[in-house]
Amino acid sequence: MATESTPARTAALVPAAGRGERLGPGAPKALRAIGGEPILLHAVRGLLASGRVDLVVVAAPPSEEGVAEVRRMLAGLGPVTIVPGGPTRQQSVALALAAVPAEGYDVILVHDAARALTPPATVAAVVDAVRSGHPAVIPVLPVADTIKSAVPGEDPAEFPAVGQTVDRSGLRAVQTPQGFSRDTLTRAHAAAGHDATDDAGLVESLGEPVTMIPGHVEAFKVTTPFDLVLAEAVLNRREEPQMNPVVPLVGIGVDVHAFATEQDVEVEPRPLRLAGLDWPGQHGLLGHSDADVVCHAACNALFSAAGLGDLGSNFGTAEPEWKGAAGTVLLAEAARRVRAAGFVIGNVAVQVVGVRPKIGPRRAEAEAVLAEAVGAPVRLSAATTDGLGFTGRAEGLTGIATAIVFPVS
Ligand code: CTP
Ligand code: MG
Repeated sequence: MATESTPARTAALVPAAGRGERLGPGAPKALRAIGGEPILLHAVRGLLASGRVDLVVVAAPPSEEGVAEVRRMLAGLGPVTIVPGGPTRQQSVALALAAVPAEGYDVILVHDAARALTPPATVAAVVDAVRSGHPAVIPVLPVADTIKSAVPGEDPAEFPAVGQTVDRSGLRAVQTPQGFSRDTLTRAHAAAGHDATDDAGLVESLGEPVTMIPGHVEAFKVTTPFDLVLAEAVLNRREEPQMNPVVPLVGIGVDVHAFATEQDVEVEPRPLRLAGLDWPGQHGLLGHSDADVVCHAACNALFSAAGLGDLGSNFGTAEPEWKGAAGTVLLAEAARRVRAAGFVIGNVAVQVVGVRPKIGPRRAEAEAVLAEAVGAPVRLSAATTDGLGFTGRAEGLTGIATAIVFPVS
């Protein structure tokens, strides 16, 4: 599925444009709160916490206020794109699908915002099943109730009669996220001749196989007021002290590069790249790559935290395609590998040791660029060494970083 030109990235489409008629009067369903936070926020967090989702595309309630509220709600959460939704769920999904960049995403999830409390592990299981070779995957649960068909009487006011009892052993209740190879979902939507209640239904219409994997009771769809009560109860239980707390893992990373000398610069100009920014007028650092010690130290810290080795073991001679890549490109790829290995990234902190450049005035700008690459907050600070050592003599720069990650349970 993923080739060298199409890296293995997953986008999750989140239809969240419904009114929530069955919930009763009030704001659109995705904007209503459970546990004091909007349904949509819970859903998007769950997707990102799976460690398997590189981009979330939300189909928001289409009004101007709806889109603006969703934008505010999800600001700073991670890689999220927002589009106005459509008049039906299927159209909302199609609009979100159209907003996925043309290149780079080979697996697409579709996940109802209304399934706000879906465990990250269920999301991860769906992505993994698609990546293991199943082009369409749905999470399902057995049906608990006895199921009978209803035959309405002549008079619609009359109670209906039983048609027949359906053998429930072969039936499954279907949840989201549903996962697809991009090609499968794109073809299914392009061919959609009817309004299906889920995306797998469109794939079935193509006559192509859909695979079932175990769903989760907590992936229920918030539909009626009773579901709000249930959701609150689930959240309360999650907040109880756990017997098996998630143990965070910390990583450390260092990188050092020498400043180019006057002679070096005469041979070849060496602009300074540091913390993902250009620093016009500053002497650059020497190295095969852009020598961005901040990005490189951050990569080392991320790999260290996840137990994935270091910069050299990931982007060294075994993977020559990364030679000379910009620091931010390496950083984004390091973060992707850490998530793909089953971790949520908490944050990364980097300190630059050296006399120049002055970081303070551009700290916010650098932190924004770095956070964009990592998909999690990055803190940047700086220190000098009282004139001591190579950093004190302005012969080079050191980057020192820590990262914290959490295994996805
Ligand atoms: N959805 C959407 N666009 C629509 C209709 C629904 O994006 N035009 C989304 C909903 O926001 C929800 C998901 O599809 O996250 C599943 O739909 P459902 O649970 O039926 O939500 P609503 O349509 O909002 O609820 P109701 O049917 O009670 O009005
Ligand atoms: Mg609906």
